[in-house]
Amino acid sequence: MTIDSLQTVLITGAGGWLGSLLPQTLVERSPNTRFSFILADVVAPKHPKGLAAKVITHQADLSDPASLDALFATEFGHPDVVYSMHGIMSLGSEENWDLGMKINFDSTRLLLEKARHSRPASGEPVRFVFTSSVATYGGELPDVVLPSTSCTPEGAYGTAKLMGEYLVSEYSRMGFVNGLSVKLPTIVPRPGVPSRATSAFVSSIVREPLAGVRATCPIGTSPDDPLLSTTGVWVAKPSTTLINLAHANRVLADKEMVAKVARWSRSVQLPGFTTTVREIIDALREVRGDEAVKLITFDDDETCRRIVSSWPRSFDNSYAQRLGFIVDTDGFAGAIREYMRNSM
Ligand SMILES: NC(=O)c1ccc[n+]([C@@H]2O[C@H](COP(=O)([O-])OP(=O)(O)OC[C@H]3O[C@@H](n4cnc5c(N)ncnc54)[C@H](O)[C@@H]3O)[C@@H](O)[C@H]2O)c1
Repeated sequence: MTIDSLQTVLITGAGGWLGSLLPQTLVERSPNTRFSFILADVVAPKHPKGLAAKVITHQADLSDPASLDALFATEFGHPDVVYSMHGIMSLGSEENWDLGMKINFDSTRLLLEKARHSRPASGEPVRFVFTSSVATYGGELPDVVLPSTSCTPEGAYGTAKLMGEYLVSEYSRMGFVNGLSVKLPTIVPRPGVPSRATSAFVSSIVREPLAGVRATCPIGTSPDDPLLSTTGVWVAKPSTTLINLAHANRVLADKEMVAKVARWSRSVQLPGFTTTVREIIDALREVRGDEAVKLITFDDDETCRRIVSSWPRSFDNSYAQRLGFIVDTDGFAGAIREYMRNSM
């Protein structure tokens, strides 16, 4: 195999779910690139098993400037690419507003500043991929959200992410970095324990019953509640999202692709599909039968319902697909089957 490029990639939040999986996807998607990874997280990230790449792991609090300095001064030199993926999720950001702003916004600005004043060996600005969210939307939304729909978030998490997106666009306009904010759908089902995200129940009501454990659905009061059919979420499978995250780096590395990104915004909503709570439960029944569905109990939570209902249910995928991002084609049942293959 011929190696046609070397890339040093800094991933923040690399101890988290998607950040810990991304190195493998990057290596698989770019077989002709030799990668060096700087993996950083406030919880010491693990060295990915069997990864064909050089790796340095750093326990680093991204809100601490000295920790950030260390990430840009490793033996791997200045990173060519930064994936900014650390964060405090939506419920955590509501419960501890100051911490949410500090980690989701203040540290994003610090990281952008470090990237701005860092020049990789190529001499090009650092490619900066920022993971944002559909929580940047809120208020009155059209049935299908377009790239031109304004973002009016209704929570601390979405507000901090949106401010991060504005900075990525502005730093890119100034040539300080070459950035792209990718707004992730809710990625499902998530393995492990529930995250501090309002959307965590979308995974719990599938993951727990698959393991034979009871789960609580915070939307609706019974299996027949009409709210189950009217409460929708915008979701995507992990594998699809990881491929799209890897693709974001390719878009930024390709001048013709970057020219297709709107001049006034470096934000792209990643493709996903709409599913209702009812459809999730039906998909669980299709894959695992009635016994699994019976393990779901209902305890309507007004705060959770308010936040989830403020998020958009449907997006126009065409802009992201023109940029080469891909979309799931096998619905929620496909997401459940992928979870069973990879995590059970
Ligand atoms: N998973 C999803 O459904 C989803 C949806 C939309 C957006 N996102 C965004 O994608 C990114 C990755 O998501 P995930 O599900 O892997 O998140 P995750 O919660 O699994 O990982 C986030 C990581 O950030 C780390 N972190 C928190 N504070 C830190 C600090 N001060 N310094 C360094 N690290 C710190 C945490 O320790 C954690 O490992 C996040 O930015 C998230 O907001 C995820």
